[in-house]
Amino acid sequence: MSMLVTGGAGFIGANFVHHRRASHPQERLVVLDALTYAGNLQSIAPLLDAGEVHFVRGDICDDALLARLFAEHDFAQVVHFAAESHVDRSIVAPDAFVRTNVNGTLSLLKAALAAHRKTGTLQRFHHVSTDEVYGSLGLSDPAFQETTAYAPRSPYAASKAASDHLVNAYGHTYGLLITISNCSNNYGPFHFPEKLIPLMIVNLLQGKPLPVYGQGANIRDWLHVSDHCTAISAILDRGRAGETYNVGGNSEVANLELVHQLCDAFDARFLGDPDLRRRFPASPASQGRPSRELVTFVQDRPGHDYRYAVDTSKISAELGVRPLVALADGLASTIGWYLDNEAWWRSVMTGEYQNWVNSHYGAAS
Ligand code: NAD
Ligand code: DAU
Repeated sequence: MSMLVTGGAGFIGANFVHHRRASHPQERLVVLDALTYAGNLQSIAPLLDAGEVHFVRGDICDDALLARLFAEHDFAQVVHFAAESHVDRSIVAPDAFVRTNVNGTLSLLKAALAAHRKTGTLQRFHHVSTDEVYGSLGLSDPAFQETTAYAPRSPYAASKAASDHLVNAYGHTYGLLITISNCSNNYGPFHFPEKLIPLMIVNLLQGKPLPVYGQGANIRDWLHVSDHCTAISAILDRGRAGETYNVGGNSEVANLELVHQLCDAFDARFLGDPDLRRRFPASPASQGRPSRELVTFVQDRPGHDYRYAVDTSKISAELGVRPLVALADGLASTIGWYLDNEAWWRSVMTGEYQNWVNSHYGAAS
């Protein structure tokens, strides 16, 4: 059984590849990834070195490449992570979001359908999407359900909404065996330090300001990436074709409170560890000062969605999936991962890794 994993060198995709490989070692995983700034082969390097995962550098918009891959591997399952994923970038430069998230998803759907019509092998096309397609909630609004009308408000969210509609259309019109998951904010290992939690962690380590948009009052629901991977696996194995499942962490918190939690966790960890104080001398925690002093309120994100929250009762009732990682534990283990993997985050931030990719594969077109 072969599975195509698009975007498997990105944050969630890489975590999923590790997760799926451990839980389903009999499956053959083929990762297709363009290795944009957000894709990092180091995140799946041990599996590649051991020959346990096959990697192809390529673009999901490349129809000829997709046709070749489907013909070669006759995939039984596709899990589609590849996307432009950062809201701030979509506000500055939306074109890449429409190209990859909309056109790329359409290319993948076309290739999957053509292959399925030839061989009948494809059992599932799973599309990984976001709760942002549902819009923004007020403080006391009920959480998004799978039936909530779409109301995307950023170019990123609009591109993901369009891709969801295309995936559903391929299910309804052509009978492709699709599923979609719409999930809340993930965090954990291999997270590129442009998103809130990893950015705050690497800035705390380097004694740099912690930029909090507006007053830090916006609310997100945090889902540890391992819980997300468990949910996707369950949908692949037991989810009903044609269905959408919301996935959330049941851990809503305002941004400023979250940043304060990270600061306090740093202070406690550094207090008892002279080695950390030696390794990261610029961190306030190394100098016995409170990390919260780095919090800096900056101009708000344009159109900033106030709150996301998802109702997870469907996936819980149908598939028995619920988040297992409590936010405090997940933050502590994520801080630990960044402390243990300094080479990873330094190389992705300095562009050293991108240079390595370009020297091995040629610059991305
Ligand atoms: P990411 O930005 O970390 O990774 C995206 C991956 O896709 C990278 O490896 C990148 O190289 C690859 N990619 C980008 N364009 C490509 C193209 N044209 N062809 C092939 N590969 C390409 O993203 P992520 O945070 O891991 O998110 C994965 C998926 O989950 C996305 O679809 C995103 O919309 C969705 N999602 C993310 C979150 C979150 O909190 N991170 C939450 C909900 C949904
Ligand atoms: O809800 C799911 C979505 O979560 C995913 O679909 C997206 O791919 C993912 O990027 C994420 O979107 P957000 O915009 O919520 O994540 P981000 O980490 O960029 O921001 C989280 C919150 O923190 C948001 O309210 C903006 C705020 N923020 C973010 C950054 C990067 C700050 O206050 N300061 C920052 O520097």
